[in-house]
Amino acid sequence: MKQEQQVEAAIRTYEDVDSWRTVIFLYNAALKEVGTKLEILNEEFQHVHKYNPIEHIKTRIKTAESIVKKLKRYGYETSIENMVRYINDIAGVRLICSFTSDIYRLAEMIGNQSDLKVLSIKDYIKHPKDSGYMSYHMLVSVPIFLSDSVVDAKVEIQIRTIAMDFWASLEHKIYYKFEGNAPEYISRDLRECAKMVAELDEKMLSLNEAIQACVVHKPDKDNMDDVLDHVIGNRREQKTLRFRA
Ligand code: GTP
Ligand code: MG
Repeated sequence: MKQEQQVEAAIRTYEDVDSWRTVIFLYNAALKEVGTKLEILNEEFQHVHKYNPIEHIKTRIKTAESIVKKLKRYGYETSIENMVRYINDIAGVRLICSFTSDIYRLAEMIGNQSDLKVLSIKDYIKHPKDSGYMSYHMLVSVPIFLSDSVVDAKVEIQIRTIAMDFWASLEHKIYYKFEGNAPEYISRDLRECAKMVAELDEKMLSLNEAIQACVVHKPDKDNMDDVLDHVIGNRREQKTLRFRA
């Protein structure tokens, strides 16, 4: 059954509740499912590698106002069916990471979750938008287990670094302020900043790799004891030698 049909069937089972609330209930459930999954992946990674690939997670449900606006922009009538079919980001999760390597690591972990279906991927890190926007987008669908049916719901996952998020939130504010028609010098400066963000992310990644390499080569406690034994042993030997002499 197609997702729209599943949602329609779910709406019919909740005839007492209005369909808008049912749809929002389903997308909220989807957000919870995906949010929990990601928290578990992050905790498992912390447990195994002593490191968190996710700095923080933000989740949100699109407001009715922006759903209607988007449908209009796409040229569709406002209906529950069109909303479920054409709006991919009703449920949105944003993962903020420290390093670009974390982004691809997370994307792989998400792709390997057998109950999530990856519907599409947009890599705006390898291919930034003209605006300078960088992020890794995954559109997934997650099954919601209801009392007597299973409904798939779409969730848009955006994965980006702290620096990319900083850029995107400022650009978003500017975009709204100028209603999409920012003066050229501002757009140009934003593109410049996007390049600086990419450079910063690259530098921070190589710096982190250098730090990790030092940590790996640093002797651990057992090694340290060996080193101390060796040094002390040598000194003792020197002393005895001197005494003998
Ligand atoms: P919409 O842009 O949402 O209509 O959908 P789309 O099919 O074009 O998907 P896309 O992957 O391009 O963008 C989805 C989401 O990414 C948007 O809703 C924003 O949250 C974010 N996004 C995309 N482009 C930009 C951008 O240039 N600047 C900022 N700040 N965010 C962007
Ligand atoms: Mg877009």
